[in-house]
Amino acid sequence: MTDSSNHDEFYPVGGLNTASYDLRADLDRKIFEDPIPFYTNIASQVVGPNGGTVLELGCGTGRIAAAIAKLGIAVEGLDLSEAMLAQARTNYPELTWHHANMCDFDLGRSFGLIIIPFRGLQEVTDAHDQRRALECAFAHLKPGGVIAFDLIDPDLRYCLPEGDAEVVELPIFPMPDGIGKAGSRLRITAMERTNDPLTQRFDEHWRFEEIGVDGDVIRREDAWHHLRWVHRSEMRLMLELCGFVSISEFSDFKGNPPRYATNQVWMAKRPD
Ligand SMILES: C[S@@+](CC[C@H](N)C(=O)[O-])C[C@H]1O[C@@H](n2cnc3c(N)ncnc32)[C@H](O)[C@@H]1O
Repeated sequence: MTDSSNHDEFYPVGGLNTASYDLRADLDRKIFEDPIPFYTNIASQVVGPNGGTVLELGCGTGRIAAAIAKLGIAVEGLDLSEAMLAQARTNYPELTWHHANMCDFDLGRSFGLIIIPFRGLQEVTDAHDQRRALECAFAHLKPGGVIAFDLIDPDLRYCLPEGDAEVVELPIFPMPDGIGKAGSRLRITAMERTNDPLTQRFDEHWRFEEIGVDGDVIRREDAWHHLRWVHRSEMRLMLELCGFVSISEFSDFKGNPPRYATNQVWMAKRPD
């Protein structure tokens, strides 16, 4: 068995995690609320086919930008992970992908809509950097432009210093194309979580295992996913401090009012 654990990079080049991201995201869409219709609808309403360009921060493998592009709307993606961008470039070579940090970028242009889908802002694990990401987004919006993003609303049971030892095994996946041995399958397990209430930083240990045809583990990769919890009042203040107006918050992608321990879905505007 090969073991290539990596504590620093959650989406490593050539890794089972990066290669299986779209499979996991598809499963998530089926079990929980699907973010794609929400972001494609906003793109249609705010920008439309002839109204400018959408920028996705933390675009990952490009699944959301690609769904927007399918509607004939111009869209570009930006991500810090070369491994995720490599997948986006392979799957959607016709789109524009930027390698940059959402906390510190300058594309020299402005956009009608900026989106940060699927908790990308929580992968920025420092409060100051989260604010810098919102400031960068503000600077890249046209006057009257809109920002939209979603976060997990902190469930306080999972924010305690003792962390959470529950192990959750996902359904076994087929091995993604081009990776692994013939007939092998992929087992993904969310292992223990630790939490630091001081910084609101949450670290989750993930295990990715290639299971051979005889059931043996032939490859194992461990990775740590780092997130920062953001409370609703904190998020609203951050948006206000960055200059955003018309701030709306919801608990889901259908526009229901804020509710504890669900999702936080935010929309705000750069003033006209
Ligand atoms: C959960 S994924 C979401 C990907 C995509 N938006 C989607 O919905 O499938 C979060 C993405 O944010 C990226 N990311 C994390 N920190 C970032 C940063 N500081 N700047 C740019 N991208 C970042 C990660 O590399 C990852 O691709």
